[in-house]
Amino acid sequence: MYFDTHAHYYSKSFKKDRDQVLRSLPEKGVDLVVCPAEDLPSARACIQLAEQYPFLYAAVGVHPHEAKDVPSGWLAGLQALSYHPKVVALGEMGLDYHYDFSPREQQREVFHAQLDLAGRLNKKVIVHDREAHRDCLDAVRAYPNVTGVYHCYSGGLEDAKTLVALGWSLSFTGAITFPNARRALEVIEWLPMESIMIETDAPYLTPEPFRGKRNDSGYVYRVAEVIAQVKGLSMEEIAAVTKENGKRFFGIEEENAHDDHII
Ligand code: NI
Repeated sequence: MYFDTHAHYYSKSFKKDRDQVLRSLPEKGVDLVVCPAEDLPSARACIQLAEQYPFLYAAVGVHPHEAKDVPSGWLAGLQALSYHPKVVALGEMGLDYHYDFSPREQQREVFHAQLDLAGRLNKKVIVHDREAHRDCLDAVRAYPNVTGVYHCYSGGLEDAKTLVALGWSLSFTGAITFPNARRALEVIEWLPMESIMIETDAPYLTPEPFRGKRNDSGYVYRVAEVIAQVKGLSMEEIAAVTKENGKRFFGIEEENAHDDHII
């Protein structure tokens, strides 16, 4: 069974059939999902979904696209939401210099505030880095007590080595099935297995050969398939390892799991 560590099920793309899609996931081989937010309203929506579906967990945060619109008191609002028992991380947060929907100074301010909050709350973070590799890494380095995952990793091998040495994980989407994914494959080839997670970023980044359709967690196996090829392992092994990594990372205990003896 797969753990899709990043899917935006509050998205209006799922307005008509959200319940149907979510209920079908276990039969499609997906039994854990993390739904990350992009602002405070979507954070509340993620929590609502997490309350409704036992296999779905929430992350609360402000995406760089939304940094320009944060209301006053947003950080306290985020902190209050983070105490919900199904909130397993803060995110997504980060920097996006590709679209630049928010002024960069404001993106950095909102990112740093959330990293600081994560340190104070002892929470993992989910980072979005698009064409902002240097500033993202500088931000991460400024908060050495905070670790997390770079979602949809798009950096190079050197940055990957730095991040893993700092205790970070890297996560990959259907973008690694695209023809121009050579750099990501090089990173995956090097990356220690315990630092890899998989995700769809649904409804976006639908893997080949389904590009053009709406994405959902049912397609996450395509990400596992590519990683399996690169690593010379089976899809079952990739599914098992990435699921264990995700559970350890987000601190998720499955209800049917046997309790370990407490030593
Ligand atoms: Ni996302």
